[in-house]
Amino acid sequence: MRKPFIAGNWKMNTNGAGAKALASGLVGQLSEIDSVDVAVCPPSVYLQSVAKALSSSNIALGAQNMYFESNGAYTGETSAEMLKDVCCTYVIVGHSERRHVLGETDEMVNKKVSTAIGAGLLPILCVGELLEQRQGEETEAVVSRQIKAGLAGLSAEKVEAVTVAYEPVWAIGTGLTATPEQAQEVHLMIRKLLAEIYSESVAADIRIQYGGSAKPGNTAELMACPDVDGLLVGGASLKVDDFAAMIKTVV
Ligand code: PGA
Repeated sequence: MRKPFIAGNWKMNTNGAGAKALASGLVGQLSEIDSVDVAVCPPSVYLQSVAKALSSSNIALGAQNMYFESNGAYTGETSAEMLKDVCCTYVIVGHSERRHVLGETDEMVNKKVSTAIGAGLLPILCVGELLEQRQGEETEAVVSRQIKAGLAGLSAEKVEAVTVAYEPVWAIGTGLTATPEQAQEVHLMIRKLLAEIYSESVAADIRIQYGGSAKPGNTAELMACPDVDGLLVGGASLKVDDFAAMIKTVV
């Protein structure tokens, strides 16, 4: 049985006071919930203060990105060990904004996934097609390539640390959500691919989140899809009531 997993990606939003207030607000609303894994991924400069606000709650902390080297002359980067040191459990890797705005390649994503696992972090590996790729019927080819490249060289034992997030790029921050049918189709394709690369039992254990304009109003229908195991939420995770409502829908 895959436990539902809902994570909030705050992206480059909030400020110090806002981040603390958002985290504390969620702790207040979600303290009783243990049938859903919940995580929030604040901007890296606020990880420590959010960690403090979440301490003694069951909400986990995640980072939005990391670098694949441990230390050294990499100005502006943050290592997996540093994220562990500030109490992160998860790290988002290969988000489409990093791939398409910041030029992250499949090879970098792969190094980040394996470095994260090596450091004891649980990576959330994001994959998803652009609008023109969907229109050109390339969704399966693009997502398969991202999954194969992202997980290259990873053993069956290690891949159990990974959550996959399917985020069609055309649905991110646009208000356009994939229909439950569209989401289920790609999630099932991903799970079949994981079974091919690893085994049926490994594929059955890996959680696949959907992301892209997920909100309280579409949570139930998306989560009703058999292969949608959770959500990676951007905009709606910035409002305590919306994010909490989504989690309560799934409980
Ligand atoms: P959105 O973002 O929910 O604002 O569309 C999702 C994401 O990018 O993770």
